[in-house]
Amino acid sequence: EQLFSPVKNLQGLRITITAGPTREAIDPVRYISNHSSGKMGFALAQAAAAMGAEVTLISGPVQLTTPAGVTRIDVQSAEQMHQAALSAAVQSDIFIGCAAVADYRVAEIAADKLKKGAEAEMQLTLVKNPDIIAAVAALPQQRPFTVGFAAETRNVLEYARQKLLNKRLDMICANDVSASDRGFNSDDNALSVIWRGGELDLPKAPKQKLATQLITLISEHYKN
Ligand code: CTP
Ligand code: CA
Repeated sequence: EQLFSPVKNLQGLRITITAGPTREAIDPVRYISNHSSGKMGFALAQAAAAMGAEVTLISGPVQLTTPAGVTRIDVQSAEQMHQAALSAAVQSDIFIGCAAVADYRVAEIAADKLKKGAEAEMQLTLVKNPDIIAAVAALPQQRPFTVGFAAETRNVLEYARQKLLNKRLDMICANDVSASDRGFNSDDNALSVIWRGGELDLPKAPKQKLATQLITLISEHYKN
């Protein structure tokens, strides 16, 4: 049996992908975010569209061009991404959560720029953001085949397996972000893909090559 068929026709398949970081405002000039470049999510969108799928890409703030044939929706915060993702997910066959969603947002965004006080310390109160992919996987009807990512710096496979089960995902791609030559911001990546019935290591490769392998793998498991 061949692991990856060379060309796969995904015509008629609707795929929604989230990508990039989210940005959580503190005040009009400051925010909390992370180092996600969006490259992996954009590579997945490009690969899926090239194979004929109908792709919606929900992106946080990134410096990347929209791949040809892809419908892009730009968002800033996790709450905005949550809304856009749920609307798109109910009309999708496959949902891939590649975004590095900020786990917390500031409880109250200041209307004006915060001024530096006399005190040596300042505190921000943070509240938890909605878990977007868990919400998609919990959709009562029209639940898409749901694929997550797990960025970890230790116990990579163990944490990823826990996320697969806790979020009720169909598949998860574990990503070791402790190495600086892959993952966040890099052009290369390596993934361990885990589903209920098995596991597959996709060794270090350019994100575009990895994306084609992953979309092929997902399309083989979708509705299996
Ligand atoms: N995710 C999401 N919404 C969030 C947080 C994460 O949809 N509020 C998704 C990510 O897009 C990814 C998966 O959940 O597909 C795992 O993200 P990760 O940050 O690794 O896991 P968390 O559940 O946030 O746990 P932690 O950060 O504590 O490891
Ligand atoms: Ca997180």
